[in-house]
Amino acid sequence: MGTLSYLKNFIKDRQVASITPTSRYTIERVCRHINFEKDLRIIEFGPADGVFTKVILEKLTPESEIIAIETNTDFAKSLRQLHDKRLTVVNRSAEDVMEIASGRSWNSADYILSGIPFSFLKKDVKHKILQDSAELLGDQGFFLGYQTSSHLKPHLRAYFPKVQTEMEYLNIPPMCIYKAGK
Ligand SMILES: C[S@@+](CC[C@H](N)C(=O)[O-])C[C@H]1O[C@@H](n2cnc3c(N)ncnc32)[C@H](O)[C@@H]1O
Repeated sequence: MGTLSYLKNFIKDRQVASITPTSRYTIERVCRHINFEKDLRIIEFGPADGVFTKVILEKLTPESEIIAIETNTDFAKSLRQLHDKRLTVVNRSAEDVMEIASGRSWNSADYILSGIPFSFLKKDVKHKILQDSAELLGDQGFFLGYQTSSHLKPHLRAYFPKVQTEMEYLNIPPMCIYKAGK
């Protein structure tokens, strides 16, 4: 897994949008925004083969849960090999997040972690995903995104009053990290 699996899937599926996994530096920087002391419900958009998911599972309490939503079938299959009872893998698009969450009786989430390539999405799909995310996160939750540019900021601002960004340069390419909440 890792770069080779990204490359293989990128050739077949342009929605993969990257030929290298996110760096450990970026992952740790994003994780600094998560309070792992309590039981959490996390939704992950675009986990690929689980580069973030594995680190998060190491840090989560035993009663926490993650729903990982991934469009690429090969990545979804490889994620299922993690065999962790806290992890549910769904081979669908993030635009179905509301239906996926309610199908598991979740009416809220503490964090939504997202690496999907928002710049590739149609405007209406992008806005549906952000609107549904804001609804699920309510007043207490946070949307944590990572993208290769700051293009997502104005779109996030439409749904979240507070949006912070920071850069992680120890990533190929450098990564813009977003924290959005109410
Ligand atoms: C840039 S990769 C990031 C992968 C991984 N999270 C990382 O940090 O290296 C984007 C991932 O999002 C997935 N993806 C793209 N569009 C998606 C969508 N609408 N819903 C869910 N996953 C999506 C791709 O298949 C790919 O695995």
